[in-house]
Amino acid sequence: MTETKILTCSNEDIAIAADCIKKGGIVIFPTETVYGLGADATNIESAKKIYQAKGRPSDNPLICHVTQAEEAEKYCVTSPFYYKIAEKFMPGPITVILKKRSDCIIPAAVTGGLDTIAIRVPSNETARKLIKFSGVPIAAPSANLSGTPTLTALRHIIKDMNGRVDYIIDGGDSDIGLESTVVMIKNEDELVLLRPGAVTAEQLGEICSSLTIEKAVYEKFEGRPISPGMKYRHYAPDAKVVILDGNDGDVYKFLKSEPNQPVICFDEDEFILKEFPKSFSIGRREDHTSHAHRLFAALRDLDGGDVIYVRMPAKEGIGLAVFNRLIKAAGYEIKKLGDRI
Ligand code: TXA
Ligand code: MG
Repeated sequence: MTETKILTCSNEDIAIAADCIKKGGIVIFPTETVYGLGADATNIESAKKIYQAKGRPSDNPLICHVTQAEEAEKYCVTSPFYYKIAEKFMPGPITVILKKRSDCIIPAAVTGGLDTIAIRVPSNETARKLIKFSGVPIAAPSANLSGTPTLTALRHIIKDMNGRVDYIIDGGDSDIGLESTVVMIKNEDELVLLRPGAVTAEQLGEICSSLTIEKAVYEKFEGRPISPGMKYRHYAPDAKVVILDGNDGDVYKFLKSEPNQPVICFDEDEFILKEFPKSFSIGRREDHTSHAHRLFAALRDLDGGDVIYVRMPAKEGIGLAVFNRLIKAAGYEIKKLGDRI
């Protein structure tokens, strides 16, 4: 058990955290997407500490965080298309998978033994200062225990991670609330979307000649996905998550037969919000950005019982990322309501 100390986003506090990272420690820090569990990406022992603190399988690689797109040169093989992506979306919520250079100093323990590395340039000021003050690339998965909902708020971080890390930097609630978009470059200017996020499929489609969305984004994937993280149970609270796919009337009718259960719904669901004391709105029905921002915290705040019902989100824009996290949290089960035979 480590004694965990909470820090602010002041330069003095970030310097304390950076010093800890330089010395091989592990620190939870804010990014614009979600909180990360960071360590020196060039240090094998630090990487091992991350896997241990998270309870993460060691074949699931970590993202390396740097402050400038150009820093990827030191570790990976880049291309003009990488810089096109960078110019448009970095710093920001995107991660690009690149081929590792043969003289790369980032150990195989960080990249899950793959010959590629995930590069991300966060825009969050505290994250950027932490990387800068540390003077090393920071390897960081999302800060949650493996398999559980991603951490986007301090109260949930303390509950799960106290005693497992050296420091937690409190940056308030995560701005976006879902992890970065992960893409891999295929051929010259073709992209494969491995994980949807705030940089949307629609936006990516505008800058590449073709965009393939990995099957695992939408449905259960049997076999060996490109992104090892796709094969594991993910984002799940203790309660069973059940997605309700149906129109308002059918959803209300179903819920009436299940009183007192927690429900994640929309602002427009006045009936649910009034009748169900454990209901929680993740925003207006069309406000996908709000759904992303609130989903993970809602799954945690409503946890504790047998089940959490969630209304089916839309799949456009950042909605695709919300849908992707939800179907994984629900073990890919969607309850269709109102089907007529
Ligand atoms: O927003 C984010 O991306 C957050 C913040 C902290 O930056 N990080 C994050 O890391 O979500 P993590 O480890 O929870 O998710 C990274 C995903 C995993 O699914 C992993 O398998 C995949 O990226 N990944 C990492 N390196 C890869 C590689 N070389 N090839 C394919 N997939 C990779
Ligand atoms: Mg994660």
